[in-house]
Amino acid sequence: MRKQIAAANWKMNLTLQQAEQLTDELLAAGISLKEDQLAIFGVPFPYITKIREKLEGTSRLYVAAQNCSANKNGAYTGEVSAEMLNSIGLKYVIIGHSERREYNHEDNALLAKKVDIAFENGLQPIFCCGEPLQIRETETQNTYVETQLNESLFHLSAEQMKNFIIAYEPIWAIGTGRTASNEQAQEMHAHIRQVLASKYGAEIADTVSILYGGSVKAANAKDIFGQPDVDGGLVGGASLIATEFAAIIASLK
Ligand code: 13P
Repeated sequence: MRKQIAAANWKMNLTLQQAEQLTDELLAAGISLKEDQLAIFGVPFPYITKIREKLEGTSRLYVAAQNCSANKNGAYTGEVSAEMLNSIGLKYVIIGHSERREYNHEDNALLAKKVDIAFENGLQPIFCCGEPLQIRETETQNTYVETQLNESLFHLSAEQMKNFIIAYEPIWAIGTGRTASNEQAQEMHAHIRQVLASKYGAEIADTVSILYGGSVKAANAKDIFGQPDVDGGLVGGASLIATEFAAIIASLK
């Protein structure tokens, strides 16, 4: 059974004190996860170690970085390498979020390098894909997302693709309060799994967790996560409120 995952993306929010308080509140909410369920917290770089310490002794709760450099090391002021993240014991890194694609001009080829360097350093990428509104309006989203996967992931081996994590985040649904309908989410997730199956075979495709992102909240999580090819969510705004995110975790299949 592939993993069902509630992933938080705190983005560039919260002071350390607020981040600690949020984590404390979540832990106090008594989150309980079954064997094939995980919660992953994508926290700002400076808080990774602190939040990991807070999660010590818990099970099935992990921390992720929100990005890593495509370069190994060297004169790249302000960048954080995959090797650094590995050296502090991290296991997950978000790669290719649409905000980084937009504001930091990250393209599919660069993201392929990031995915590789993450793997070389023992990190599991949480790879984001998804179309902007004008693509959805012309109903070409399937080809658009397929190209993102093809150009950034399809050089990977079957071994690397096994248990991989993809987050489908339609850009028009991020931070807008406008969620994809259950049908739109299921349709794209099934398409992604079918594209994976044609490249790697159905058995491998079946192990990949495909998360939905875009205005997920406690009120809609259960319906979206209930779709057969939706394996949880990548959550922005609602992950900053302990009661909301606890309820989202509780909505996993
Ligand atoms: P919202 O949940 O705030 O729409 O953000 C989604 C997202 O970008 C998660 O990575």
